[in-house]
Amino acid sequence: MKYKVIKISEAKIIAGLHKQNIVGGFLSSLDIKTLEKIYSSILSEKQNFGFIAIKDNTPVGFILTTENCNNLYKKFIRNHIGFGVRIFFSKLLSPTTMKKIVDHVFYPGKRKELPKAEILSIAINKKYRRLGIAKKLATLTIKELKSRKIKNFIAIVGQKLTASNYLMRTIGGEKLAEIEIHRGGKSNVYIWKL
Ligand SMILES: CC(C)(COP(=O)(O)OP(=O)(O)OC[C@H]1O[C@@H](n2cnc3c(N)ncnc32)[C@H](O)[C@@H]1OP(=O)(O)O)[C@@H](O)C(=O)NCCC(=O)NCCS
Repeated sequence: MKYKVIKISEAKIIAGLHKQNIVGGFLSSLDIKTLEKIYSSILSEKQNFGFIAIKDNTPVGFILTTENCNNLYKKFIRNHIGFGVRIFFSKLLSPTTMKKIVDHVFYPGKRKELPKAEILSIAINKKYRRLGIAKKLATLTIKELKSRKIKNFIAIVGQKLTASNYLMRTIGGEKLAEIEIHRGGKSNVYIWKL
């Protein structure tokens, strides 16, 4: 298994891994091209970084992290207003997706008191799970956060995502709180102090 820093040119691969492996949530409801654009925008900022796991030239998993979640949302909205409006109108007919969009727009307000650095997403292809790949990706992330002098970070995981909740505890996350990002579904907030 090879582990590499994700490049912007790999946004499409990351979007594909996300779509295949992360069930539920606003991002998964978007089409692959839109998701690619979002990942490309995230990866264009130095404050965001990620690692990809590759087996025999096939990408099998990734992790993506931001140093500053508040900046991430502000910059995205500022730089991609037209794009946001297109998503809005293309999804206008689905009330469920509309609710998810509203939940995301108000998300920074809900996390005000929390550390700004956050693991944004992690996913491993089904065939390659329970082999320690996520653990290795998390270890690389923690090393990188330390080198960027980040003192603490969080991960927010839907309570229904059993494997991911186990993973966060295994890699040293301490449960700090429970919040409701998506209406009707609680999430656990994990914190790491570096
Ligand atoms: C969560 C996920 C990333 C874990 O990836 P993984 O590569 O299988 O995890 P690892 O093999 O590194 O597991 C590390 C530890 O986490 C725990 N863990 C992982 N999956 C688990 C499961 N299904 N049940 C119980 N514990 C689990 C274990 O303690 C494991 O260590 P062990 O295998 O030595 O017991 C993967 O299941 C996944 O992609 N899920 C779907 C996407 C998702 O929900 N992402 C989170 C939202 S962004």
